[in-house]
Amino acid sequence: MARKNLTFHLAERPKGNIVPGKTFNLVETDAPTADDLKDGQLLVENIYLSLDPAMRTWLYDIRSYTPPVAIGEKMRGGAIARVLASKSSKAKEGEFVFARSGWTEVAVVGEAEFDTIDLPKGTQLTHAIGAAGMTGLTAYFGLTEIGKPKAGETVVVSGAAGATGSVVGQIAKINGARVVGLAGSDEKCKVLTEELGFDVALNYKAPTFAEDFVKATPDYIDVYWDNVGGDILEKALARAAPHSRFVICGGISGYNSLDQENHGIRNIFQVITQRIRMEGFIVFDYRDRYPEGKKQLGQWIAEGKLKAKETIVKGGLKVADAAMSSLFDGGNTGKLLVEVKPIDQEEVSRYVTKYLAR
Ligand SMILES: NC(=O)c1ccc[n+]([C@@H]2O[C@H](COP(=O)([O-])OP(=O)(O)OC[C@H]3O[C@@H](n4cnc5c(N)ncnc54)[C@H](OP(=O)(O)O)[C@@H]3O)[C@@H](O)[C@H]2O)c1
Repeated sequence: MARKNLTFHLAERPKGNIVPGKTFNLVETDAPTADDLKDGQLLVENIYLSLDPAMRTWLYDIRSYTPPVAIGEKMRGGAIARVLASKSSKAKEGEFVFARSGWTEVAVVGEAEFDTIDLPKGTQLTHAIGAAGMTGLTAYFGLTEIGKPKAGETVVVSGAAGATGSVVGQIAKINGARVVGLAGSDEKCKVLTEELGFDVALNYKAPTFAEDFVKATPDYIDVYWDNVGGDILEKALARAAPHSRFVICGGISGYNSLDQENHGIRNIFQVITQRIRMEGFIVFDYRDRYPEGKKQLGQWIAEGKLKAKETIVKGGLKVADAAMSSLFDGGNTGKLLVEVKPIDQEEVSRYVTKYLAR
């Protein structure tokens, strides 16, 4: 009997946060098979699906860095996937790859749609999608190329307990900076200071946040890492040091309302008075340098200098839409993944020992 395959397709452009069971249609079809492969292609099954706030921005019909997902189109996304059959010289059956295979269980991907996984000993397979994958690379290149923190400087990170922010703060510590993390709960703040080595962590939902923020930045902010935008960015502008660098990585607080009229940014005048350098970037800008970034991040993880936090949601592909909406309620600490297919952890260990032990 043919294997069945679940896939999410965009049903409608949401107003506000995505609505599980409504924004996407979950469709069951027969899965593709090895017979469908053309030269250069792989048949893969997704194991861990990456969920990223930016996916929400792909659901608008607006000008962006990537075309919008069309109504009826398979939802785009990346996953750690196992190769079921191969007609590519780049990956063999049984190997794991990072595949841009979308929100589905089984897919055919061409060579431009997958990357082989190459991590050093001491790392885990899931790190290839988080701390030594796309979000880690975002942190690494954004901080080293734009933020450029120096020892003793104050680095403030918003969205600090998330996938990108948690790596940003730890790299800033490796560079000798004083690091202040902002997160949405006391539990997350505890993780930042007690597990990840941040100097200070502030709960931005606390009623005392405005005063706490001023107290935590007595020498002002030299590098501000923005993952959230909105009024936290405005508060950071008011605390900017002369010649500070503002790395504009994301603005999740506005992602559910990009179709509404955008408001101005208060305190933007400080960009002039404090000669702030404010720069946005997309991690893809550094595509040619990914091997360098992955090597460094993997090495830090292996040496215990970088801790890779993850939230893995179980329940198969069908929970992906609910898991994605949870990003906007702070449901994750570290990288958010959906376990599309439970995997024998011994198989993973054998794989890691065989392939990732370089
Ligand atoms: N420029 C690039 O190339 C690039 C690449 C990757 C990611 N990004 C951006 O980086 C940011 C973080 O992405 P990620 O993948 O690492 O996700 P993440 O930080 O792991 O998850 C999102 C987190 O954002 C926080 N959040 C949600 N709504 C918020 C709000 N209204 N105000 C403040 N915080 C809010 C939540 O944590 P709390 O509990 O703390 O609220 C949530 O856990 C996103 O803006 C994303 O678009 C940019």
